[in-house]
Amino acid sequence: EKGGFPHYMLKEIYEQPWVLENTLGGRLREEEGDVDLGLALDPREVERVHFIACGTAAYAGWYGKYLMEILARIPAEWEVASEYRYRDPVVDGKTLAVAISQSGETIDTLEGIREAKAKGARTLGVINAKGSSITREVEEVLYIHAGPEIGVASTKAYTAMLAAMALLAVRFARARGTLSKEAAQALIREMRKLPRLVEEALEKRPIVAHIAEKYHQAQDFLFLGRHVQAPTAYEGALKLKEISYIHAEAYPAGEMKHGPIALIDERLPVVVLATRGPLYEKTLSNIQEVRARGGKVIAVATEGDEEIPKLAQDVIYLPEVHPLLAPIVSVVPLQLLAYEVAVLLGRDVDQPRNLAKSVTVE
Ligand code: F6R
Repeated sequence: EKGGFPHYMLKEIYEQPWVLENTLGGRLREEEGDVDLGLALDPREVERVHFIACGTAAYAGWYGKYLMEILARIPAEWEVASEYRYRDPVVDGKTLAVAISQSGETIDTLEGIREAKAKGARTLGVINAKGSSITREVEEVLYIHAGPEIGVASTKAYTAMLAAMALLAVRFARARGTLSKEAAQALIREMRKLPRLVEEALEKRPIVAHIAEKYHQAQDFLFLGRHVQAPTAYEGALKLKEISYIHAEAYPAGEMKHGPIALIDERLPVVVLATRGPLYEKTLSNIQEVRARGGKVIAVATEGDEEIPKLAQDVIYLPEVHPLLAPIVSVVPLQLLAYEVAVLLGRDVDQPRNLAKSVTVE
């Protein structure tokens, strides 16, 4: 049932090209420069968006917030559901509350959406599991179509959630007139390439395995990223700590100077998301700062980059992609890194200690 793979997690990591085909495939309308999500909701009636979720799904919400603001110019927030549900958030009839959940059963996310609904919000679920509790609570559902996810650590559901965020942002941007047809078409063409680009990212496994071999004895890891790659850094750290039990922290790279830089010494591997994008140059200087303090840099970079290898000890090259879509490709080597480290340490990859696949109690 693991299709020849030693673990469900690895099988699910390798399913991602196919999953992205499923999430995106039938929904892209390149000719019109739009996507068809089959939603009745009119994006022009929405004045703000609240993404509510837990764990990995919450990081997808962070990415969703960025895309929604960048492309559709709608004020958007993301928050972990366990905070949202209890803090009396400001919500009205022009608020769209979006619950993101693989299982559709996470109690905090369910209660968060109930809270928003009680305050008059419109509601949408971005969900994997058909007919789950959250799908019954929301007005409409955008299924991510990732197929059953069995490994406790979420992998393919995350990339599918990111793809769903991109779909949602394009739809909202087109409906609100903030994205030209041509710009949307360009983005959609890039979205079409994602399954193949993720396939290429999977081919980097030998390099990732080599890096895991080098650093699996480390006590701590730091993950850094900026802009849409900030959530990728957080997801990379979460994956590593969940299945390897190595302490890992993530920061938006620009926050380094405000504290975490104190952690850096020769024993600290620092994973930096340094793909080409709006803040590439700034990320390069962050890498220099880490190096100047003896930290070991593992960079995720765009193919052809000649600056990064001068600075980083290890480089994982990924194919070029639209900078706003880069997280969908970049998270793949981070999933593989967590996996390879956990295997080297003899951890139970599919059933990490203390964790449950769906968290139905607080
Ligand atoms: C991380 C992980 C958890 C879940 C979280 C939300 O690998 O699996 O952080 O992402 O418990 O679960 P769902 O998406 O089912 O609401």
